[in-house]
Amino acid sequence: METHSVLSFTVALLGFLSPCLTRLTPRVSFPFGSPGRHLTRFSSYDVSNTTTLLLSEDGDVLYVGARDAVLALDVGHKDVITLRNKLDWRPSDKDLEQCSMKGKEMADCPNFIRVLQFLNASHIYACGTFAFSPRCTYVNSETLTMSIRPDEGRGRCPYDPYQRNTAIIVDGELYTGTVADYRGNRPVISRHLSEGRRVDLKLDDTLGWLEDPTFISSSFIPDEEKVYFFFSEVGREYDFIDKFIVSRVSQICMSDVGGQRTLQRRWTTFAKAQLLCQADNELPYNVIQDIDTLPPAEGASTDETLFYGIFTSQWSVNSGRSAVCSFRLSDIKSVFSGNYKVLNRDTLQWSTRVQEKVANPGECGLHNASDNALRFVKENFLADDSVRPVGRSLTMASAEHKYSHLTVQRVQAANNREYTVLFLLTETGYLHKSVLLQSGAHIIEEVQVFERPQPVKSLKLSVPKGVIYVGTSEGVVRLPTANCSFYWTCAQCVLARDPFCGWDTASRACVEASNTQTSVAQDIERGNVEETCNTVTLTHIARFGPNKMSAASCPTGELVPVALNEVVRLQCPAASKLSRQLWERPNSRLSSDLYLHLGDGSLSFVATPATLGHYLCLSTENGYQQTMAIYHVRQKSSPVVQTTSSYTRPRTRPTLATQAVSRSGSGQHTTGFWPEPKETRRQDTEPTQSTRDTQGVPRQRGKNVTLWTLGSGQNESGFVEGEPLPSARYPCYLKELVVVSVLLVLCLSLLITVLMYVIRQRCRRRTAPHAVTPSRESDRRTPLEQEALRRNQCLNKRTGLSPHSGQAGGSGCNGALTGSNGHLPNTPI
Ligand SMILES: *[C@@H]1O[C@H](CO)[C@@H](O)[C@H](O)[C@H]1NC(C)=O
Ligand SMILES: *[C@@H]1O[C@H](CO)[C@@H](O)[C@H](O)[C@H]1NC(C)=O
Ligand SMILES: *[C@@H]1O[C@H](CO)[C@@H](O)[C@H](O)[C@H]1NC(C)=O
Ligand SMILES: *[C@@H]1O[C@H](CO)[C@@H](O)[C@H](O)[C@H]1NC(C)=O
Ligand SMILES: *[C@@H]1O[C@H](CO)[C@@H](O)[C@H](O)[C@H]1NC(C)=O
Ligand SMILES: *[C@@H]1O[C@H](CO)[C@@H](O)[C@H](O)[C@H]1NC(C)=O
Repeated sequence: METHSVLSFTVALLGFLSPCLTRLTPRVSFPFGSPGRHLTRFSSYDVSNTTTLLLSEDGDVLYVGARDAVLALDVGHKDVITLRNKLDWRPSDKDLEQCSMKGKEMADCPNFIRVLQFLNASHIYACGTFAFSPRCTYVNSETLTMSIRPDEGRGRCPYDPYQRNTAIIVDGELYTGTVADYRGNRPVISRHLSEGRRVDLKLDDTLGWLEDPTFISSSFIPDEEKVYFFFSEVGREYDFIDKFIVSRVSQICMSDVGGQRTLQRRWTTFAKAQLLCQADNELPYNVIQDIDTLPPAEGASTDETLFYGIFTSQWSVNSGRSAVCSFRLSDIKSVFSGNYKVLNRDTLQWSTRVQEKVANPGECGLHNASDNALRFVKENFLADDSVRPVGRSLTMASAEHKYSHLTVQRVQAANNREYTVLFLLTETGYLHKSVLLQSGAHIIEEVQVFERPQPVKSLKLSVPKGVIYVGTSEGVVRLPTANCSFYWTCAQCVLARDPFCGWDTASRACVEASNTQTSVAQDIERGNVEETCNTVTLTHIARFGPNKMSAASCPTGELVPVALNEVVRLQCPAASKLSRQLWERPNSRLSSDLYLHLGDGSLSFVATPATLGHYLCLSTENGYQQTMAIYHVRQKSSPVVQTTSSYTRPRTRPTLATQAVSRSGSGQHTTGFWPEPKETRRQDTEPTQSTRDTQGVPRQRGKNVTLWTLGSGQNESGFVEGEPLPSARYPCYLKELVVVSVLLVLCLSLLITVLMYVIRQRCRRRTAPHAVTPSRESDRRTPLEQEALRRNQCLNKRTGLSPHSGQAGGSGCNGALTGSNGHLPNTPI
């Protein structure tokens, strides 16, 4: 009773504290079908639910378990995936009829392939649900023919296609975790296909060995000669909470052959422990969703093997969120070699064992131990301690993305340091590529791999080929792990902080770091453009001379003719989703009385003699600044009174201005306190691309300087719906806001101060927010740069900062912007 109320209080308190999660935004986003990340697709009208993937050793053949079929796909070619062979394996009409007579939906009766593993050099072992009557078979991996009559699949494959299972073949023996009955309430971890003196083994029916588990994955660690299983189940040791779910790791030894009298044909080496994905004093992310094994770095001990898992929470305060935690093998081993809990059979309560230790549960080689020892092992299988994540904290956590699958890779950066790169699939169909920095996780990019949510998915990484396969209900998609050529300036290449990519000075291109002999410029940890690119670019400056582009030769920028008293809105594109837009005027300040900074980065003001002139839109990211657009606002020669009008540029000149606007809606920083326009994911991801696919008809999204006239007879409600209101209303709004704010602050200040202190303390200790670094750095740098800007008036500083982009055709001033091919810097296409 008491524990219960304490717990509820803790849950409530922690639930309140958890919103201080760091926001992790992918730096660039590639919407579905954009050419910047080329997806190769395989789909066929008669192939669906392609969800079990198995890659051949040489990476040239991808075996796919689908609905009623096993496929062998030829993935050795760069641009296409072709079908090499197909095995049709479907239940007969009679089987289907029986299945539906048992009350099952016809759609669930086909044979969904759920086990697909290499058995030996010539054969694959496959199991399917087969109309709720699972079967297994041997398949020749060359010809894809079934060699032997199908086996009974009970205990190897679930009956119900919606139940998760795991299977792994080691030395010709199949280790599985699945439910072994039609109703789905007899979960079992078992071994099959054992021969000779080795016998098939399964779990004893002892109370509590498994409690309604959901199997996630299994991993074989050769040096340990153990197979580890990962699953979630009901945590009966927490009997004060109803159905508290815990994530588990369990182990069995390959050498196990069962006991001689006690535990005959049963595991003698089974042990399980809780996996805790939890930062100190926070609600745990208790439900494991997926886990992948990262083998130790070359030369390191097996104990350094890491397991990266995705976890979600069973509580609604954390719904929609997910966290990644990593666990070290040595930590798992030490938990298994520690103390065990024991179940009191009368009260059904778990407690820490007090009686003397007769054997070491989980130890390999117990099969011919004494009956006494085996009875002890049978009762003591739940480790007392929990396995805590590496660093006792979350590897990363996301408040806005629910991840379902992951795969992990170690990548050697240019400085020979190794970085861990995670590929995370979101429920909504995006693949996030995330690098783990000392300061926390940084999401390099996101690629949309499918449009509609997919009920079943799988991921397979091929490290040697540098590709990832995503299996969904609709087919298989392949995408490269990196495409460095997308970053076409040194600055973009460095800001990406992608350990796969580095700037090659010789070829002046962003290249795959592992493919080049020469050293490349890269700064994964800090992403410092000036240091990293300057060292590389000096020769360029020396060659072309920094003063080549003089202020005098600067163009005046995009001309914006206005009538006095019109409301002008200038658009500013974002260089990336992590950049912050900033407006400047030569020789004058943008006072907040006259200028309104809108949420999408655009600037709005009323045209008066004082506000005519040049405007410069800068984008700042991680302390690096580049000019995105230059406007020259000038009074029209013959003023025409206009009502709400949109100034749209002719489509024939896809230059600066076209790009300048194409990215509206992607801004994330509100400089003023105007209500931010409603921001949806679609807006976030769709912008841009028109400008980059130049051969297509440019979607007329072009220049969009909206002009409003605030003449006497004008009516404020005439503004375009959805646009923020112009500055005419600004002062009133401000006044109200101030009054309300003051009242609010008075009322809540005491409470907030106390809570904020607590929250800050806690947030600081957490996964460090990488997004904070840029703004801190930019704050430090910006005044200097502004000074420089003012001095140079016409911004030739850019030629110094990113000389590579100076290769742009035409003027030096918009070089950083247009580049050689008129593309928006770093905008996904
Ligand atoms: C890589 O990016 C370039 C430039 O954006 C694009 O042309 C190319 O198709 C991409 N390649 C792949 C394999 O995605
Ligand atoms: C692989 O296993 C199958 C089935 O047991 C067997 O028929 C085949 O001969 C084996 N192949 C090799 C190369 O051992
Ligand atoms: C198979 O795919 C379809 C969508 O194509 C989906 O509705 C269904 O749930 C999937 N079945 C299973 C068993 O995953
Ligand atoms: C213990 O088991 C091994 C097989 O794993 C066997 O070779 C050995 O003889 C057994 N020892 C005893 C004392 O039975
Ligand atoms: C300009 O903006 C208006 C609304 O602000 C929008 O309806 C119109 O489509 C935009 N024009 C272009 C070319 O983007
Ligand atoms: C403003 O315009 C709306 C329609 O656009 C109209 O209903 C309203 O009466 C106008 N108000 C004034 C003061 O002109």
